[in-house]
Amino acid sequence: MKKLTLHSLFALKEKKEPITVLTAYDATFAKLVSESGVEVILVGDSLGMVIQGHDSTVPVTNEEMCYHMRCVAKGNQSAFLIADMPYMAYATEEQALSNAAALMQAGANMVKLEGGEWLLPTIKKITDRGIPVCAHLGLTPQSVDSLGGFKVQGRDEASAKQILSDAIALQDAGATLLVLECVPQELAKEISEALTIPTIGIGAGKDTDGQVLVLQDMLGLNSNFKPKFVRNFMADESAATVEDAIIQYVKAVKEKSFPAAEHCFD
Ligand code: KIV
Ligand code: NA
Repeated sequence: MKKLTLHSLFALKEKKEPITVLTAYDATFAKLVSESGVEVILVGDSLGMVIQGHDSTVPVTNEEMCYHMRCVAKGNQSAFLIADMPYMAYATEEQALSNAAALMQAGANMVKLEGGEWLLPTIKKITDRGIPVCAHLGLTPQSVDSLGGFKVQGRDEASAKQILSDAIALQDAGATLLVLECVPQELAKEISEALTIPTIGIGAGKDTDGQVLVLQDMLGLNSNFKPKFVRNFMADESAATVEDAIIQYVKAVKEKSFPAAEHCFD
C-alpha cells in the first residue's frame, strides 16, 4: 500500500479535511490502526504511562522509543510515522541531532519535540539536516513538574499570546506540523488559521487541522483515566471489535462529530 507523506497531510489541510492520528507502540496495533484508515501513527512517549506503567513520560529513553518505533514500522501499512523525542533527548542541539537520527533509522518519518522559543535553533538544525519536525505546544507532559500537573494551558491572555507567537516562530524555524495539547478551543482555532502547517489537536477543540488520541484511552482500557477530551469508542454500540472502534474514530473525526462540545475546553 502507498504510504502517506508530509505532502499528503498538507493537502488535507488545504482541502479542510481533518487529519486522523492515533498512537501505537507495537506491530499488531500499528497494522490494525493503519488498515483502519488512520493517516498518521504517533509513537508517543505516552508509552511511558500506557506501556511501562509510569505516572509520567519523564522516565522514557530514546532507546526505548527506537525499539517501539521499529515494532510499529514493521506492522505499519500506509500511515505516516512520527516518533516522540523523549525527556532530555534534545536538551542540546547535538543530542537532538543524534537522537533524531536514531529514531529516523528506526523507521520514523518525522520526530516530535515539546517546547517553544528555546527550541528554535534545535529545530533549524534538525530540519536543515533533512529530518522533518513536529512541534508540540500547550500542555507539554515532559514539563509536568514545572507546569504543576496535567492542566489546560493558554487560558489567560498572556499565555495564550505566548503560545500563538511560539507557534509562528516554530513554523518559521522549520517545523512542518504542530501538536496542540489541552488548550482552549478558540486559541487552537486562531493558531490553526494563522499557520500554513497542519495543526493536530488533543483536548484542543474541533478547529485544528487534525485530531490525535492515545490508543489505549480511546479504547477505554483504563477506567481510572477519563479526561474530558477523550471519547471511548469501544463504548459505541456499533463497536464490536477494536477495529470497529478505530474505524468509528476515523469516521467521527472526518465528519467532525468528534470532538464534540463536551470534549473541548474554553
Ligand atoms: O505521547 C503522546 O502520545 C503524545 C500525544 C498525546 C500528542 O504526545
Ligand atoms: Na508525547
